[in-house]
Amino acid sequence: MALPLLEDLPNPSGKKVLLRADFNVPITNGHIDDDLRITAAMPTIKWLEDHGAQVTVCSHLGRPKGQPDQKYSMEPVRQRLAALAPEVEFMENLRFDPGEEANDPDFVDRLVEGFDLYVNDAFGASHRAHASIVGPPARLPSAAGRLLAKEVDVLNGLVHRPMHPFVAILGGAKVSSKMGVIEALIDKVDQLAIGGAMCFTFMLAQGYSVGDSLVEPDWVEACKGFLDGPDKHKLLIPNDVVAIGPDEEVQVFIGDIPDGWKGLDIGPSTTLAFIAPLEHAGTILWNGPMGMFEDARFQEGTVMVAEAVADSHGFTVVGGGDSAAAVAKFGLDLRIDHVSTGGGASLELLEKGDLPGLAALREASNAPA
Ligand code: 3PG
Repeated sequence: MALPLLEDLPNPSGKKVLLRADFNVPITNGHIDDDLRITAAMPTIKWLEDHGAQVTVCSHLGRPKGQPDQKYSMEPVRQRLAALAPEVEFMENLRFDPGEEANDPDFVDRLVEGFDLYVNDAFGASHRAHASIVGPPARLPSAAGRLLAKEVDVLNGLVHRPMHPFVAILGGAKVSSKMGVIEALIDKVDQLAIGGAMCFTFMLAQGYSVGDSLVEPDWVEACKGFLDGPDKHKLLIPNDVVAIGPDEEVQVFIGDIPDGWKGLDIGPSTTLAFIAPLEHAGTILWNGPMGMFEDARFQEGTVMVAEAVADSHGFTVVGGGDSAAAVAKFGLDLRIDHVSTGGGASLELLEKGDLPGLAALREASNAPA
């Protein structure tokens, strides 16, 4: 079965539609820091309203542990949504009920009660087999919203039909969370650059000392596997890093990092090596910052990579909450072809080619054969 799209729904005119969105947005003191996930759902809401449907949106926010918690109230999101789509109704945080994360069938029954149709536009949450994601398609005619369909199209396109040279730049703190993606991409890409704190486990595997930098010792062998593997020539690992010392002193080290020093950004020569292949790339995937870019002393690698990605004439995709936040912070988001709204979901889709939320939609009674 194929993924049912909005056009595969029975006529929505006069129907009540339950729309699952991922409005898990960053909020500080009641203020939404980045509303990309809200604005990105607007094409679906507009399509449904233009076709005469009455839309109710539901989402989770944060991890409130199955009970109401004022800290995770949807109120700031409701206000933002009311400004963008005043006709839409909005439910309180789905995770205030333990049935959501437990995928409890009774919770699904209560959730869909009174609705005629279901639309999943929550790409960022579609890797979770939670009630509101996998339950409704077995009960109501269902469809993928515009955002979900586009994310799947773009990310699957990267894996199956990239324009070459295809360059991937991966960063972020944990090498363990990116191993599956490296595995899935290494034979598809022409070059794969590894920055962020995850590079230190690779540097350790190469035999360098990494001082007090963040490492995951259990993953050193897996890194060695890639460094000695058939695609080793594709890997770009930092040869210099910016580190902070015991007295808050900041210094660039080539190769070994001394004890007491902690690497927090890729160095200038590594940055040049990472951005060089971007100039002629046909496709670029960037996921994860190159360093602790929130601190101006360690933002250079991330800024330079972000600018080089934005300047590229190739097809550019930025995925993952932190790198998406970085391009927004540097005002470059409009110069990226696709900024993914999914963190874990985009990694899992690249890695496995499918998500629980997509599988559930393909089983819906109205899914095309
Ligand atoms: C996300 O922000 O990645 C999604 O909204 C999923 O949130 P979760 O990791 O709490 O399930």
